[in-house]
Amino acid sequence: MSLQQEISKRRTFGIISHPDAGKTTLTEKLLLFGGAINTAGAVKSNKIKQHATSDFMEIEKQRGISVATSVMGFDYKGLKINLLDTPGHQDFAEDTYRTLTAVDSVVMVIDCVKGVETQTEKLMEVCRMRSAPVISFINKLDREGQDPFDLLDEIEQKLEIKVRPLSWPLGMGKSFKGVYSLYTKTLLLFTPSQKKLNLEDAIKFDDINDAGLDRLVGDSYAAQLREDVELIEEVYPPFEVEEYRSGKLAPVFFGSAVNNFGVQELLDCFIDIAPRPLERSLEERVVEPTENKFSGFVFKIHANIDPKHRNRIAFVRVCSGKFMRGSNYHHVRLEKKFRFSNATAFMAQSKETIDEAFPGDIVGLYDTGNLKIGDTLTEGEKGMFKGIPSFSPEIFMEVVNLDAMKTKQLDKGLNQLMDEGVAQLFSYEMGTKKVVGTVGQLQFEVIQHRLKNEYNATCKFVPAKLYKACWFSGKDSKKLNEFIDSKYRHIAKDKDGKLVFMAESKSWLTMVQDSFPEIDFHFTSEF
Ligand code: G4P
Repeated sequence: MSLQQEISKRRTFGIISHPDAGKTTLTEKLLLFGGAINTAGAVKSNKIKQHATSDFMEIEKQRGISVATSVMGFDYKGLKINLLDTPGHQDFAEDTYRTLTAVDSVVMVIDCVKGVETQTEKLMEVCRMRSAPVISFINKLDREGQDPFDLLDEIEQKLEIKVRPLSWPLGMGKSFKGVYSLYTKTLLLFTPSQKKLNLEDAIKFDDINDAGLDRLVGDSYAAQLREDVELIEEVYPPFEVEEYRSGKLAPVFFGSAVNNFGVQELLDCFIDIAPRPLERSLEERVVEPTENKFSGFVFKIHANIDPKHRNRIAFVRVCSGKFMRGSNYHHVRLEKKFRFSNATAFMAQSKETIDEAFPGDIVGLYDTGNLKIGDTLTEGEKGMFKGIPSFSPEIFMEVVNLDAMKTKQLDKGLNQLMDEGVAQLFSYEMGTKKVVGTVGQLQFEVIQHRLKNEYNATCKFVPAKLYKACWFSGKDSKKLNEFIDSKYRHIAKDKDGKLVFMAESKSWLTMVQDSFPEIDFHFTSEF
């Protein structure tokens, strides 16, 4: 099969949601419909409930399993689908942001009772930054939720994206009767079921004025559906696939994941409209997937479960050409060639060694510490892939070493955990102060636990009075140096050695910005 054909077969996407909206359930049902698993309950939920250490320890034990489940490849109707799992817990939001750099589109799950929640808003911001095409799945229709039109308005307002329903519910909660697909013009009647449903059960209604509809669902449901569909046609312009693919419009589906309802319709429409592997930008140019030479980037690092062997698995998104196991590839940051003789593909329930992979695929490379998040591999080209920024953390803690004999271990452990993207480390230019920044409290427990278990180092975290980490730039190098000299006590280096201004408070940052108008301050490392 030609490279072009391999690319056309692939669809790589991620599922995102606010915790508890149904991401894990939908993932599992998609795999069930995709034939990748045959029993419910097979997908290990790697979610962590609110701030519970015991849950984390449990996750820790399961880490070996979750490596396999964080990328789930399966074949469906002649296509190769790569589904990337994202952690639901908000403390791991940064991991989710990075995973989104490796997908070409996104399915967003929304709970019809709760509507658009905070985490969804944040994730949508990232999708918008990347113009990622988004499909919305409004879940839990078997519950008394909000009015579907209100939900659509809420998505438009809070998520700042145009919407277009492609399916429509008949009733909701106790009176939930089914869903009419505006995309295929078919009606699917609802029967609560944990079992596999077949779309053969769907009834085609090219014209919803067909009297058969009344016979099937009763006069009042039929009348309501007709009224709703008329309103939809009036309010929303016809669905344009290009608008969706450019990230401007989100098609919306309704269903109930736990009841297998509306899932296959979602999947079938997804394979119709979702984009193929898209181009990615290097610093200097755009790389097309169809280019013959292999290129890819690391978006996730997973430490191995066995603390005695510090192997890690680096997840690489193939961007162009063909990846071949055993080939020498150029590691752009280290300017060195590496041979990867151990490459893994992730299937729904297993991982298997592979010999080759194509754009859109995710390859797992075993690594002993040479790769870190954001690294680029090529056949010799020197540019790095863009679009894997660090965001300013929200919580900052100073690291205090509790065992002076283990300083080396602590440093090594911290550096390796940072390469994995567990948190961000800022090393002050003056003195030896090190500050760890995260988006959530949970990471500090994770770091302490792993430092102790894997590196035999003990430390404590002391809250650092900091508001934001600001990467900065300026066209005038003299002014830039003046700024650095005047604020040297507040300047640290990030993991890549970039200088960062550590702002103590919002008001202070504003003052500094006023005093140095030639300096631009950024809350992300890529600007
Ligand atoms: P998450 O990954 O987004 O955090 O959500 P998850 O799938 O774990 O679902 C959260 C809860 O919502 C689960 O219940 C799940 O069974 C339920 N759920 C998912 N889809 C539907 C649906 O269509 N209708 C209804 N009524 N519930 C749904 P739980 O009690 O937290 O867990 P479990 O014991 O059922 O696994």
